[in-house]
Amino acid sequence: MQNYKDVLAEILIEADALQQRVRELGEQISNDYRDTELLLICILRGGVPFMVDLSRNISIPHMMDFMAASSYGVGRRESSGSARVTLDLQTDIRNKNVLLVEDIVDSGHTIAAVLQMLETRQPQSLKVCALLDKPERREAHVPIHYLGFSIPNKFVFGYGLDLDEYYRNLPFVGVVDLNKYKPSE
Ligand code: IMP
Ligand code: MG
Repeated sequence: MQNYKDVLAEILIEADALQQRVRELGEQISNDYRDTELLLICILRGGVPFMVDLSRNISIPHMMDFMAASSYGVGRRESSGSARVTLDLQTDIRNKNVLLVEDIVDSGHTIAAVLQMLETRQPQSLKVCALLDKPERREAHVPIHYLGFSIPNKFVFGYGLDLDEYYRNLPFVGVVDLNKYKPSE
């Protein structure tokens, strides 16, 4: 894989700005759920760095669990018209206050599929916290109760978001220069 510097068009959100926003979201969530039991659910794999940092900024007791979903078919960097859950939770969410933590809401199909499945299990509440939102790409209407940043329709990587599974570790969100990126075979 190429060094990220060779495929980076620009840094869209600096590490400091991400950490600042995550602190704010953590405070807001701590306040909103102060008298309840909170369960954070990370959508793998992109939600991992965000959920870890968010959790460290939530001052009330809370639990964590993980699930995964994937889009059906089509190209690697385009999502399709539907998604399915590929890894289920370990936790029974009935009567719990559930907050889904996702890296980005793009078409909206991933969150829509996850919400639809979890709603049938009768949680006390079910809300969405997304680091990024690309509103121009939306196909499925989904609520976002807590949002980090709204971004333009550009392919981004870093802070959980991948370029063909690489660069999730970067502390900032960058825009890929598709003229410089050479996908490996
Ligand atoms: P959806 O289109 O809302 O279902 O989003 C599906 C998934 O596509 C997200 O959870 C991300 O993992 C991924 N994705 C969407 N846009 C980007 C991007 O710009 N960079 C990296 N991954 C993305
Ligand atoms: Mg994702």
